[in-house]
Amino acid sequence: MPTPLYDSLRTLAAERPLRLDMPGHHGKPLPGGFPWPSELDFTENGVTGDLFGDEPDAIQAAEHCWAARFGFDACLFLTGGSTQGVHAGLALLAGQGSAAALDRGSHRSAYHALALLDLTPHFLPRPWLAEEGITGPILPETVEQALNASPEIKTVCITSPTYYGVLSDIPALAAVCHAHGAKLMVDGAHGAHLPFLGYDGYRAADVVVVSAHKTLPAPGQTALLFANGFDLADLRRWGSVYGTSSPSYVLMSALDAVRDYMAGEGTARYRETARLADGLRRRWPSLTRRDGLALDPTRLTLHSPDGFALAAALRQRGVYPEMADRGHVVCILTGADGPEEIPRLEQALTESGLTGPAALCPPPPEAPGAVLTPRQALFAPREALPLADSAGRIAACQIAPYPPGVPVIAPGEQIGKKHLAYLREIGYNKECCDVIREV
Ligand SMILES: Cc1ncc(COP(=O)(O)O)c(C=O)c1O
Repeated sequence: MPTPLYDSLRTLAAERPLRLDMPGHHGKPLPGGFPWPSELDFTENGVTGDLFGDEPDAIQAAEHCWAARFGFDACLFLTGGSTQGVHAGLALLAGQGSAAALDRGSHRSAYHALALLDLTPHFLPRPWLAEEGITGPILPETVEQALNASPEIKTVCITSPTYYGVLSDIPALAAVCHAHGAKLMVDGAHGAHLPFLGYDGYRAADVVVVSAHKTLPAPGQTALLFANGFDLADLRRWGSVYGTSSPSYVLMSALDAVRDYMAGEGTARYRETARLADGLRRRWPSLTRRDGLALDPTRLTLHSPDGFALAAALRQRGVYPEMADRGHVVCILTGADGPEEIPRLEQALTESGLTGPAALCPPPPEAPGAVLTPRQALFAPREALPLADSAGRIAACQIAPYPPGVPVIAPGEQIGKKHLAYLREIGYNKECCDVIREV
């Protein structure tokens, strides 16, 4: 398989050019033996291509390979994580000042984008899975209802998979959006590996963002923006608004190389990981696939009567999970986890004695009403207050405990007594919050 960008940088590095440009290390090793592939760390020099330029180059060729692999018209490399992609994608689809239907459980990058683009949010709730104490998938009928009630919405943005690995039915959601003349954007930050495992749901969406660095063997900050029905030039324009003008060639060439790896050995490894995860789910109480609940095959969401204690017990034994809440511990299993790593996890689980039925969490109360728009709330003067004293005040920040991983209170909404009571009930551990300063 071709790796156009990685190959061209390696060829240039092998020529030992005299580098009198950026970065300042000029291709020499970093001091103190700091491990960094300086020789591939170039800038735009006429040979290496230009991420945001117009001319066909090795970067575009490498992006094209990704677009073809994921089934999209265009792909843009991101060196600022999915955060950059969520901002660029929402700007591309929604522009400024329009209305958008947003998964209430969206990452804060989507909430920030709402504010910066001055979008009016119509939040999409998820069903509560009472027996699991987490939220389920976004349902097509929920999107249908939102689009019928507010026909001005032309952008829908949802997250799939969630942190817990819950997948929404993207083709069904896309069909509803398209029938209403709306576009669907999917924040797939946690799903970069899924298309390599045969999952083809993403290609039904108009825009998809994935973090390569979260689930593929790729360096921190690497991510990808995919789009159907848009030119690469549109993606580049918005990518450049939210990205650095000096994108890292090490990161970009790593994206090129990881796709090639995933075309062969990588996919075999991830299939094996999915098989191992399946075995773990059979042996340990955990979130499992069932009718109406599709899951990322490699994500392991363990059940525990005390998720925080289980995570602490694992860490004491040198095992670091991704996230814990009252009743769950989430482990991101990847192709890096094989026959050596899985038994180590299992031994730590056995020693902890803390796996078992999940401590359940009550569903969050109905979202409070918005008093300010997300943009007004972002730019208004703010002050920090003890959470306990904040009833009646307008939130300047998200208050989003896990679970549900959904803001109980979003910026611009009025904090109510019942919301504070809920936060107390579930043991929310942050004592302060930012509220809008009163004049
Ligand atoms: C659902 C979701 N979207 C977007 C992001 C942002 O991704 P990144 O850290 O790659 O910027 C995250 C990060 O955790 C996330 O969980």
